[in-house]
Amino acid sequence: VSDESGRAVRRPEVWLNCAASMDGRIALAGGRRAQLSGTEDLRRVQALRARVEAILVGVGTVILDDPSLRVHWELLPGSPGTNPRRIVVDASGRTPPAARVLDGSAPTLVATSERCTRRFPEHIETLVVGQHRVEFEQLWPRLVERGVRRLLVEGGAEVLASVVRSGLFDRFTIYYAPLVIGGKSAPTVIAGDDTDALANAPRLRLVGIERIGEGSLATYLPAEPSPPPGEPR
Ligand SMILES: NC(=O)c1ccc[n+]([C@@H]2O[C@H](COP(=O)([O-])OP(=O)(O)OC[C@H]3O[C@@H](n4cnc5c(N)ncnc54)[C@H](OP(=O)(O)O)[C@@H]3O)[C@@H](O)[C@H]2O)c1
Repeated sequence: VSDESGRAVRRPEVWLNCAASMDGRIALAGGRRAQLSGTEDLRRVQALRARVEAILVGVGTVILDDPSLRVHWELLPGSPGTNPRRIVVDASGRTPPAARVLDGSAPTLVATSERCTRRFPEHIETLVVGQHRVEFEQLWPRLVERGVRRLLVEGGAEVLASVVRSGLFDRFTIYYAPLVIGGKSAPTVIAGDDTDALANAPRLRLVGIERIGEGSLATYLPAEPSPPPGEPR
């Protein structure tokens, strides 16, 4: 697959998005789902979903939230379009059989690793892209082959951590709701490995901050420009 200037396209344009409390929590105690977006932000997210070819979440989110990953067309002007492909990052095959993402209502792909022995229903495409975990460097080009030019990554905290550390993304938007969750067990925007020195902390560049409904929307780009979709890493 190549772009307009004939360069090989190695990854989609990757947009990360999540909603957090003002103290950076993305769920309640123990990871219980919280609807943090207000009406305006919900609309913004649905518009984002409607303009990508695929939406990706980790299996932790599927287990805890059971999202449908469908576009809520009723929140958008105009007539309904096609639902983007749903992608679950699930290295060992932990997606519950009754999960909504497996209901066959939209094309769905489960990205797994060599650790996975689970069999998924026939209507689910599975891709082995890694030995122990899903390797995004391997997954991204496979998505391009499937026509995914724009990818929305919606979480959760482990997946966001891996993608941010990989540097293979283009934009990260966080909606901050004006409320506090606090405590010790509510997940924050980013999980993953500990950071022991600031020199090892991935850096982002803040390019926008705007009021949206009752909250604020911050837009970040990677501080080190990531290789564009058409360039090898
Ligand atoms: N507020 C928001 O916008 C929002 C959005 C989404 C989720 N959430 C919250 O996020 C929480 C779930 O997040 P989570 O961090 O527990 O789970 P997650 O990020 O959704 O999924 C993490 C799991 O994905 C699998 N995985 C495979 N390869 C991976 C890789 N390279 N990098 C990272 N993960 C990989 C791992 O399980 P295996 O090893 O078994 O494959 C890992 O445990 C819930 O509380 C949910 O409510 C909030």
